Amino acid sequence: MKKILVTGHKGYIGVELVRILKDRGFYVAGVDSDFFRGCEWHEPAKPDEEMLLDIRDLTVDHLKGFDTVIHLAALSNDPMGAVDPDMTYSINLRGSIRLAENAKEAGAERFLFAGSCSVYGQGESLDLDESARLNPLTAYAESKIDAEKAILALAGDNFSPASLRNATAYGSSAMLRLDLVVNNLLACAYTRGDIRIMSDGTPWRPLIHCRDIARAFAAFHEAPREAIHGMAVNIGANDENYQVKDVAGKVKELIPGAEIVFTGEAGHDPRNYRVNFDLLNRILPEFRLEYTLEAGMEQLYEDFGRYGMTLEDFEGPRFIRLKMLQSAVFV
Ligand SMILES: NC(=O)c1ccc[n+]([C@@H]2O[C@H](COP(=O)([O-])OP(=O)(O)OC[C@H]3O[C@@H](n4cnc5c(N)ncnc54)[C@H](O)[C@@H]3O)[C@@H](O)[C@H]2O)c1
Repeated sequence: MKKILVTGHKGYIGVELVRILKDRGFYVAGVDSDFFRGCEWHEPAKPDEEMLLDIRDLTVDHLKGFDTVIHLAALSNDPMGAVDPDMTYSINLRGSIRLAENAKEAGAERFLFAGSCSVYGQGESLDLDESARLNPLTAYAESKIDAEKAILALAGDNFSPASLRNATAYGSSAMLRLDLVVNNLLACAYTRGDIRIMSDGTPWRPLIHCRDIARAFAAFHEAPREAIHGMAVNIGANDENYQVKDVAGKVKELIPGAEIVFTGEAGHDPRNYRVNFDLLNRILPEFRLEYTLEAGMEQLYEDFGRYGMTLEDFEGPRFIRLKMLQSAVFV
């Protein structure tokens, strides 16, 4: 049986990935520093084995015996990088490179890195493919670019790294996040009765359900080696690029009584990118997203009723990564 190590297995995407890999019959170990303990929305799937450790403390010995390492652990968004860039570079950049070097030395055959479409930053044109010039606007995006480059350079006869440049995630997970645009707008409408857009609503974003990101990692683990070896690949779908105001419109369809309010508090948001996903379709022709934005939003809306979503949940730290880290790590 193939053995997989997932870092960040207790996070928003990680808990869904553990469930999918276990359903497919793999042996799954997880490693996580447990920054967000107690923030579970509902009971997450458990891996076969769990290490509550910082990835920066993992040695070659910890990594022996795994066929694939799927590396999700990171400070996972732009605002966290802005509050503490050093910590972002220490974990997302230097920690990630060292982990990949150790995984190679330990004999892992594959190393799948959680990259991000945010590396395109302020897109110079629309429909950016993997050859587009990278234009990072934040420490987070910079850390993802530099880590990706160094990790892909480790490719060799017995070691196949790949970087999955994921679109912005949304949707229901046992470790919900509300600091992601779709989830935030829907939870705001559900708990406050209005849809508060902090930008002018025009920037483009590629969107993907967190379970489809998890399915993509599983597909990269199962794909023929030559299909993924040394590749950086955008993960999403061409018709799942949206402007923020379109997302707001879809929230209003689900919660018609909610009013759309442009608060303008974020000023002009320079992050604007529409992304092309043809390469993913070429290298993994069988892989298709399971969720459209509409279907994923409907499911999240139903889950608000099933698992509960209150104004306190929406405004408190439990589902907002930066607020939790500020109370737990940075103080
Ligand atoms: N959610 C998105 O929209 C999105 C989009 C593109 C890329 N990504 C990337 O996917 C990955 C997972 O994102 P997520 O949304 O699940 O984030 P998350 O914040 O929910 O989960 C990250 C997990 O990593 C753990 N972690 C952080 N630093 C660690 C360390 N030093 N050692 C061990 N564990 C550590 C945290 O405790 C947490 O459980 C991240 O690398 C993120 O940058 C996410």
